[in-house]
Amino acid sequence: MSVIEAFRRTPGLAPLPDHGESIEHQLAALHALQHEHPMWSCRLLTAFAQGALSRDDIRHVFSQYHCYTSSFTRFIAAVMASCDNDLFRAQLAQNLWEEGGGCEPARRHAQIFRNFLRDSLGIADVAQIAYAPHTRHFVREYLAQSQSADPVASAAFLAIGTEGIVSRMYTMMRTGLVRAGIAESELEFFDIHIACDDDHAVTLENMMMSYAGQPGWFDTCAAAMRRALDLRMEFFDSVFEDLQRARIHPIVLRMQARESLAHGRRDAELCHRPGGATIAMYDNEVARLNIKFTVERLPLAAEVLDPRMVRIPPGKFNEKHKHAHETLIHILEGSGQVLIDDRVLPVGPGDSILVPRWAMHQTQNLGSTAMRFLAVTDFRLSQRALVGDATDYRMNADIDASRRH
Ligand SMILES: [Fe+2]
Ligand SMILES: [Fe+2]
Repeated sequence: MSVIEAFRRTPGLAPLPDHGESIEHQLAALHALQHEHPMWSCRLLTAFAQGALSRDDIRHVFSQYHCYTSSFTRFIAAVMASCDNDLFRAQLAQNLWEEGGGCEPARRHAQIFRNFLRDSLGIADVAQIAYAPHTRHFVREYLAQSQSADPVASAAFLAIGTEGIVSRMYTMMRTGLVRAGIAESELEFFDIHIACDDDHAVTLENMMMSYAGQPGWFDTCAAAMRRALDLRMEFFDSVFEDLQRARIHPIVLRMQARESLAHGRRDAELCHRPGGATIAMYDNEVARLNIKFTVERLPLAAEVLDPRMVRIPPGKFNEKHKHAHETLIHILEGSGQVLIDDRVLPVGPGDSILVPRWAMHQTQNLGSTAMRFLAVTDFRLSQRALVGDATDYRMNADIDASRRH
């Protein structure tokens, strides 16, 4: 099935004209295909958009990304070399000129990116960056595709597959950078690209459009664009998996080291708190749903455990919710029932219940006295492993399964 055929069969997209109909419609179809590509919802961009990345995560992502930004002018030069139209080559030369900082080579984009690495992320010497094999593969493939002997393919690859995504992609990244505490004034690299790469995309798109009408033009453009987005998604997925490993690996090393981690800890950190104080964490009250409860955190400096004390007044419930962490509930006072997915488990003092990951659950106090239970979760592990998607999915008055931290 051809790309255009696949597009026609995609539900929810505007009807596509036949080959031979308006070229503008075919261009709109290419843009729609780009817009729908799964790269946009890959885990790394999602983590950026959620503001879930730490400064360490961001340092890793952009140290690898430097391999790409410092090669970018090579991709443009490669497309120029296969372009047989001197007007388009002149316009691409203008793109290159801007990428190169114009009359100020110190302001070339690759250098502005290095300044960002140095000043905002503390990477002073890019020569020290160890590029992962998947990073080198990404950049090598990018260059190979830009050098394609078919000018339609190379133009589409760099036009709608690359320059045309910059504004949206860097806007998502920018959200994550700001949320990680990086000052807006340090985001020049992202701001200039959000502002100017649409012009660069138009130049390349005009070049791509100049071949429209050639047999197979649409399918060639769509395939080249998809190749660019697939390559980027593959790279982003690999970088994301690096982040997950980097977040979990120190725990694994400490497990393997067989050394006590109690050394040097204060009693309070070991949670030796006779009568123990707790820290208020979360509460909610929704009269319509009979919800009323409080959650306090036991201040325990654990690696993966996150124990909480939950209190529910007589006749009230906590929210129906689910989350990435697993939970051991131990009832201290009161009686009622715990709902886990479609099961109902009666509980009273001394009872324990395990809530597996992502099981929908709710605790209901059906007695005439307050209910109090200990909920020991491995929230800190799921938070590390999922890079930002360990949040609770709670029900509240207005939105079912709304997301909360
Ligand atoms: Fe640039
Ligand atoms: Fe829960």
